[in-house]
Amino acid sequence: MTLSNEALAALVRADSVHKRVYTDPEIFALEMERIYGQAWIYVGHESQVKKTGDYHTTRIGDQDVIMVRAADGKVHVVYNRCPHKGAKVVAEGDGCTGKFFRCPYHAWTFKLDGSHLSLPLKNGLEGTCYDPANPDFSMKAVARVDSYRGFVFASQSAEGPDLKTFLGGVASSIDNLCERSPVGEVEVAGGTFRVMQKSNWKVFYENLHDTMHARVTHESSFVAAREEAAALGEMPFELLIMDGNGEPYEFWEKLELRAYHNGHGYMEGIFDPTAATRDPVSRDHFAVLTEAYGEEKARQILGMNRHNTIIYGSGSPHTVFQQFRVIRPVSVDRTMIEIQTFRLKGAPDAVFDRALTYANLINSPSSNVMPDDVEVYKRCQEGNQTRGGDWVSLHRYLGTDQETPDGMVSTNGTSELPMRNQFAAWKQYMLNPAPTRQRQAQEKEADRATA
Ligand code: FES
Ligand SMILES: [Fe+2]
Repeated sequence: MTLSNEALAALVRADSVHKRVYTDPEIFALEMERIYGQAWIYVGHESQVKKTGDYHTTRIGDQDVIMVRAADGKVHVVYNRCPHKGAKVVAEGDGCTGKFFRCPYHAWTFKLDGSHLSLPLKNGLEGTCYDPANPDFSMKAVARVDSYRGFVFASQSAEGPDLKTFLGGVASSIDNLCERSPVGEVEVAGGTFRVMQKSNWKVFYENLHDTMHARVTHESSFVAAREEAAALGEMPFELLIMDGNGEPYEFWEKLELRAYHNGHGYMEGIFDPTAATRDPVSRDHFAVLTEAYGEEKARQILGMNRHNTIIYGSGSPHTVFQQFRVIRPVSVDRTMIEIQTFRLKGAPDAVFDRALTYANLINSPSSNVMPDDVEVYKRCQEGNQTRGGDWVSLHRYLGTDQETPDGMVSTNGTSELPMRNQFAAWKQYMLNPAPTRQRQAQEKEADRATA
């Protein structure tokens, strides 16, 4: 039996959330339906499918989908399912399928937008409803696909806001990431990392703006970085990025947290005028951007001191170090993180090298930093399965958040505003009485019954 709206609403309070939202498989299944069945979800970057027939597999919640470049140059997103017996048409990963898809089971073929192309021994279907134009013989397309500056999103619902409206204030993070290239374009490069976490997907989003954990959870890496720097007599970039977690609480309090509709947001430092000229890599980068955009704009682009951005349901783009951590729920207690790194077209190679170094040292499976987070996420998952209490606290700086025209802001970077904002969105999605996908399925069922 599906949980009632009253029961779901009671799980989220202004200052806390019931631990069931992290541990109950029934709630996880509803999230797949009501959040991932409606929201725009990042499926990949256009640069991952450069040529006709190139594809990239991914998931929208619990749904396996394929992002593919068709002959018309457009990027399509289709469910990875053959309409014959249901086999997944392509294996997981990236590849090129050529001019069409061919199912590995009985060789039904499909155009690159998923529509039916052909099948062997057509005689056997004579006298049936078989018709290449009959959608029952095609791979099904995801309801809506759109791209923002090359970042492709898909929504399983035919209704709802357009992508730009959905992204709201966090579209500016994608803008800044692209503008760091003198031609305004980026591409996925250098391979991707994957990390399987033994925790619920929402914990990762909450931690992205959890500044109170940095100097505690990451003590081992920033202390080691400081010791190493002292021995070297300097603080190279590799150690500097680990050292940052050791900033005192006063540092984190000065950051600003922006919260937007749909659970999105970002964390921003005060504009950093030194960012453009601080080190040789930045100076070279600044020179290239100055040529492209003029000095003032170049300084503005590099000075935007934005840390993790949250696109709720999709993951976290990072502008300064050019990456996108794609967050994919696998089950109530398993989450796959895929880390994509971007090359800024036209920027010096050293900028890309620095992005790769950041990904290696901070986010990769062999990082000194990420395993600290993965460990505490797992502890939250396990602790919440004990009988030691039912509620998870979101109290910090409650009541001090300021409304803005498009969301909320906290001028204290240690506020738990981002978590409260995420759960406000969660509640909105989860209480939707008739999610479009569910309704469409019901309508189809009703049509069948009356036919
Ligand atoms: S399952 Fe795909 S052709 Fe039979
Ligand atoms: Fe962390």
